[in-house]
Amino acid sequence: MNASIETTVRRTKIGVVGAGSVGTSLAYAAMIRGVSTDIALYDLQTAKVEAEALDLSHGQMFAPGVRVEGSDDVAVLKDSDIILVTAGAKQKPGQTRLDLAGANTAILKSLMPQLVEQAPQAVYVLVTNPCDVLTVVAQRITGLPYQRVLSSGTVLDTSRLRWLIGNEAQVNTSSVHAYIIGEHGDTEFPVWSSATIGQVPLREWEVDGRRPFTEERLEVLRAEVVNAAYRVIQGKGATNYAIGLSGARIAEAVLKDQHAVMSVSTVLEDYRGISGVALSVPSVVGGTGVGQRLQIPMGEREEQQLHASADAMRKTLSDLGF
Ligand code: 2OP
Repeated sequence: MNASIETTVRRTKIGVVGAGSVGTSLAYAAMIRGVSTDIALYDLQTAKVEAEALDLSHGQMFAPGVRVEGSDDVAVLKDSDIILVTAGAKQKPGQTRLDLAGANTAILKSLMPQLVEQAPQAVYVLVTNPCDVLTVVAQRITGLPYQRVLSSGTVLDTSRLRWLIGNEAQVNTSSVHAYIIGEHGDTEFPVWSSATIGQVPLREWEVDGRRPFTEERLEVLRAEVVNAAYRVIQGKGATNYAIGLSGARIAEAVLKDQHAVMSVSTVLEDYRGISGVALSVPSVVGGTGVGQRLQIPMGEREEQQLHASADAMRKTLSDLGF
């Protein structure tokens, strides 16, 4: 007797462009978290992308049944629900993220139309740097609504900040409510005025009867986050694990329609008077991409810092002819 097996599981597909250390770490993290039923890796280096997909597939027994494919043919991304772009030139020691703008814009110009052809309904996430600049470039090239073109922005920097604060405050990172916003780069900054642990304002938090989060200490923490990637790049040539986890977490919020608040970057329209540049602000991330961008309380200095980030982005975009 022929029995057909019916399934009610809706298949979901993550497309990853670039099978380098960031793309593969992202795929690995997504696989272990069980974010989707399918993961497709696309890279022009045939042997490398096939080998990475094979290596990941060999671990399927230990992960929640994810099907992984890898190809040098862009059609491997067909009908992806979300596509995360990690391909492009990466920072060498001493380079800033903005130094990569020209090379990676050129890559996006040929890449984005091909991706949209394969996956017209997908949410697009730029992980390649400078991710805020490339978000504007990708949105302009494709004409997609801003909600569906975002970047990982300062999701990773926010995680770095919460880890540092959690260590110092002796609480779990998940109980720290603080954001790094602005550019994913040198002008990013923490929004200290609304940072809390539980509901206790950060500056009032006590450890053994003293308040560790003095103004001097907060400045040290800010600088540590801003310089975190430089430090890792100096030591091992690239960052990959934490950015991979960040990308997988964003994919999860989209594919599971979680409406999670994350500091992703999108093209802003009159956000505190800023328009036409992409910056990270706490935003609601769900099945259709980015929804509401939150108007969080900000001090005067923080407001100035956000505008300084916008100016830096505007300058880079105009140098690129955008
Ligand atoms: C990072 O922050 C280099 O943008 C990358 O880890």
